[in-house]
Amino acid sequence: MRIYFDHNATTPVDPDVADTIARVMVGEFGNASSVHHFGQRAKAILDEARSSVASLLAAEPSEVVFTSGGTESDNFALRGVAEALEPTGRRHLIASSIEHEAVLVTLRALARRGWRTTLLSVDQSGIVNPQVLSDALTDDTAIVSVMHANNEIGTIQPVAELARIAHGRGALFHTDAVQSVGKIPVDVRALGLDLLSLSAHKFNGPKGVGALWIKRGARVTSIMTGGKHERSRRAGTENVPGIAGLGAAAQLASKKLATEAVRLGALRNRLEEAILANVPGTAINGVREPRVPNTTNISFEAVEAESLLIALDLEGVAVSTGSACSSGTLEPSHVLRAMGLPSPRTQNSIRLSLGAGNTDAEVDFVVSKLPKIVEKLRSLTGARVRA
Ligand SMILES: Cc1ncc(COP(=O)(O)O)c(C=O)c1O
Repeated sequence: MRIYFDHNATTPVDPDVADTIARVMVGEFGNASSVHHFGQRAKAILDEARSSVASLLAAEPSEVVFTSGGTESDNFALRGVAEALEPTGRRHLIASSIEHEAVLVTLRALARRGWRTTLLSVDQSGIVNPQVLSDALTDDTAIVSVMHANNEIGTIQPVAELARIAHGRGALFHTDAVQSVGKIPVDVRALGLDLLSLSAHKFNGPKGVGALWIKRGARVTSIMTGGKHERSRRAGTENVPGIAGLGAAAQLASKKLATEAVRLGALRNRLEEAILANVPGTAINGVREPRVPNTTNISFEAVEAESLLIALDLEGVAVSTGSACSSGTLEPSHVLRAMGLPSPRTQNSIRLSLGAGNTDAEVDFVVSKLPKIVEKLRSLTGARVRA
């Protein structure tokens, strides 16, 4: 038995989505820029996918620009706005300290090239306090980027309020909604956004394709230069099968989002409660609400997250740590650190993220295995934890 509880890393492609991709890849090979019949068929596929994505966001199709995924969309938003607004003298960029690397590393790159950058702190629950944004804004702030849902802990930021505050100082507002689109309703106008990033592989679509939603009239310079694809906003022959897959995944999400959110929320809560009740020395990281319904991040006192991940994998259960293990060193999660959690806890935490195929029986299996696994890992290091 293999159980996949790592849907925030990526999701399996839905079989209907895979069928769409295969059909388009084999049967619709035209270049969407070609004037002839084959090109026009490919263009029609792009148009349909654009409408499906727009409809998931309550946006206009013409505002959707296809990209190679969340990372490119984040780069496009930050670099594109920074460059577009440079002549106006707005050379200050703001993001939260718990953003994905696609935002954080891009900001660092822009800082090296002369932009002033500010990272907003978060409180212990993993939320940006609107006052912290008000204090950081200046008259030369070009863009504020605060993610909608966090990939590690699932907490949802008050983006509508943050966007309103950013606009009050004339700055644009971008949200990385890679972890919220397809999981909870996202209405770009109700949230008052200017730009939004999404990625197909986080909601049962294919990898390597995503979109940046750009509000009509927002000033953004393209970062991919070349041909006039995507109305001159993103050069490069469109990945027609991938985009068709994104469109199909968006349609599927629109259809089942409401019921799936309730189902996954109940499943996640049951998993969480059972772990807290049956494994001593456990605690949830981040606020319980507002959170995306599929995610929980739990710390296990005196248990190294990496060992727990491996022990669970041996039982057939795939989870993730917030930490990135690079060149042999264990980096504690920047998200948990930014929340001010003490250093043992940042290294004792694992993320369980549920998705479409997960069942009650899988939750029961994990809950039945965890107490023994944790007890064994603690006994190996002689750790004692109060029940
Ligand atoms: C919040 C967030 N932003 C951006 C990305 C990057 O998206 P992609 O994998 O499509 O480049 C991810 C993926 O893990 C993510 O979780």
